[in-house]
Amino acid sequence: MARIISVITQKGGVGKTTTVNALAATLNKLGRRVLAIDMDPQGNLSFSLGAETEDVRTIYDVIRKEMNALDCIQRCNTSDVIPSDILLSSIELDYTGKNREFLLREALGDVKKSLRLHSHRFTSESRCSDSKCACCQQIRYYAYAS
Ligand SMILES: Nc1ncnc2c1ncn2[C@@H]1O[C@H](COP(=O)(O)OP(=O)(O)O)[C@@H](O)[C@H]1O
Ligand SMILES: [Mg+2]
Repeated sequence: MARIISVITQKGGVGKTTTVNALAATLNKLGRRVLAIDMDPQGNLSFSLGAETEDVRTIYDVIRKEMNALDCIQRCNTSDVIPSDILLSSIELDYTGKNREFLLREALGDVKKSLRLHSHRFTSESRCSDSKCACCQQIRYYAYAS
């Protein structure tokens, strides 16, 4: 079962990035898979987790529905990460209509779907027997449940 933990406040310099780094490292040590999603245009979390931030697809592309979230995930040492960069700072101007508060939830729909598929395949005996099955490999890779 996946858990979503959000560390949010608009105020800067209060320890959000530090907290997420510590959480990711601790959960990783406890054997959990972690996907960190950097929602700060400064990209400090992406950088500190060791993500590539030059010329890469980011959460900005995901929210704009130009990229699938699953294709923007980078594997780093303590957690996987969907990085962010300065482009994200324009998102509030791009989306001013109603329901904009659901953009991130919608954008991460495929990540959630892959989790549901994962728990179905691995808790029942119906797992595909083909070890090279692209679908199953992707599901294994993106299985963020423990
Ligand atoms: N618990 C703490 N005690 C002391 N300093 C801290 C603590 N947490 C974070 N810091 C320091 O505070 C500064 C801001 O932290 P940061 O995580 O970047 O904040 P934010 O992401 O909210 O902007 C950094 O220099 C960081 O090392
Ligand atoms: Mg920060």
